[in-house]
Amino acid sequence: MSAELYHALGGETGIRRIVEAFYRRVAEDPILKPIFPEDLTETARKQFLFLTQFFGGPALYSAEFGAPMLRARHLRFPISPRRARRWLELMREAFAEAGIDPATTELAFLRLTKTAMHMVNIDDGEE
Ligand code: HEM
Repeated sequence: MSAELYHALGGETGIRRIVEAFYRRVAEDPILKPIFPEDLTETARKQFLFLTQFFGGPALYSAEFGAPMLRARHLRFPISPRRARRWLELMREAFAEAGIDPATTELAFLRLTKTAMHMVNIDDGEE
């Protein structure tokens, strides 16, 4: 993928803002909080590395952790469609708080939505 999206998001500064705004919301969210660790510092650091590469910036996540294999890494967490939708909602709020323009947000969400739905590993009733 080209670095165009990465730059439109504001590069390192923009992605840091998004990640900070996102996990501040996760920490208070009744649907997502229960499956995340209490201390989100390392989670947020990994997500910064990952989103940097996901949006076309330097491959920081793979340099430290190897192939992302995201679905496999999420299997130990019960992710229902409801949780995936919530993840996407909070991420949308985080993009808005970070001041990302609407066209860039839509482009980013085409990719984020696909990836989030791919993480689903249980039904809503199994939560
Ligand atoms: C890790 C939940 C979607 C990227 C995690 C963790 C949880 C989680 C609970 C573990 C946190 C930790 O142990 O520190 C969810 C839920 C999702 C979702 C409920 C809803 C669909 C996504 C998406 C992406 C993503 C769409 C990427 C665009 C990551 C990354 C990690 C992670 C990079 C760290 C993996 C590692 O190296 O351990 N996620 N996630 N997640 N998530 Fe998600």
